[in-house]
Amino acid sequence: MTWLVTGGAGYIGSHVARAFLDSGIDVVVYDDLSTGSLDFVPDGAIFIEGSILDEDALSHVFERNMISGVVSVAGYKYAGESVKRPFHTYTQNVSGLVSLLSAMHQAGVHNYVFSSSASVYGTPDVDVVTESCELAPESPYGQTKVIGEWLAQNMCAIDSDWKFTNLRYFNVVGSGYPEIYDRSPHNLFPIVFDRLLDGQVPQINGNDYPTPDGTCIRDYIHVADLAIAHVAAAQVLEQGVKLLPAYNLGSGRGSSVAEIMAEIAEVTGIAFDPIIAPRRPGDPARIVADGTAASRDIDWKMRHSLADMVRSAWESRRLHS
Ligand SMILES: NC(=O)c1ccc[n+]([C@@H]2O[C@H](COP(=O)([O-])OP(=O)(O)OC[C@H]3O[C@@H](n4cnc5c(N)ncnc54)[C@H](O)[C@@H]3O)[C@@H](O)[C@H]2O)c1
Repeated sequence: MTWLVTGGAGYIGSHVARAFLDSGIDVVVYDDLSTGSLDFVPDGAIFIEGSILDEDALSHVFERNMISGVVSVAGYKYAGESVKRPFHTYTQNVSGLVSLLSAMHQAGVHNYVFSSSASVYGTPDVDVVTESCELAPESPYGQTKVIGEWLAQNMCAIDSDWKFTNLRYFNVVGSGYPEIYDRSPHNLFPIVFDRLLDGQVPQINGNDYPTPDGTCIRDYIHVADLAIAHVAAAQVLEQGVKLLPAYNLGSGRGSSVAEIMAEIAEVTGIAFDPIIAPRRPGDPARIVADGTAASRDIDWKMRHSLADMVRSAWESRRLHS
């Protein structure tokens, strides 16, 4: 059994590729290295450099390798930046998927797992987000994830063997392997680590939210736990069992930014009092996901604590500083 992981040279995709290999499933990584790194690709995987926009190249990949399913991780992931680069975001995340799905259809590959995102919900006005909450994306990025989910669903109408699911990730952090780290310049952990390594004090945007300590609450999940859920989903689909169209991958409980800062101070041994800066426009007070359905169907569970997430992320980041 061989699965194709697009974006398998990136932060999440390279964890997914390793989780497949660890489960005895062969992997082909297809990645244009736009934000990924060859160093992140696991030794046991076949690597092919190319863009998901290149349907001919993808068709060759399917012709030359006996691929039984695809995890579609490749994409442009910056919600904030997507507002300034809507065409780029749509090209990468929608046109790219059209060519990937079209190549899969031509090749008769029927199993598919898509990297979706919590951003499909926008700012949900509920304590805990379930899959049935309204989809109300607030950025071009979130919109492209909704369209990506629709595209996967649309395949059912043209392929009776089509089996898929869309995995809605919440805040992915940590590192399963010291050599892989989140290089995003826009996520909380890398931003805080960069400031600490620069000798600066990290900042919290807003401490007057209606939460117990006044700072925003988010649902942090460990990237290695996330990767295992992809393998479980792939195995279920391979058995011919249908999955729900979408699953939240969240913890059911959140952590506040102040709690994260305290954990970072503890793990790094760098004592600091975060600077309190004004709120950032559009930051909801709390987003926490219900992962019950994923726990039931695709072996989703939080195997790692918040301390594990911070420790592994810090160790890996320090190794690369
Ligand atoms: N990191 C998060 O917290 C998070 C949360 C929700 C969803 N996601 C989604 O997960 C996926 C992976 O995120 P990540 O954090 O690993 O990002 P990343 O930037 O590290 O990985 C993306 C990978 O895709 C590759 N890629 C990008 N465009 C491509 C193209 N056109 N053709 C081929 N390869 C291409 C990049 O080179 C990179 O290796 C993205 O689709 C993102 O939207 C991430």
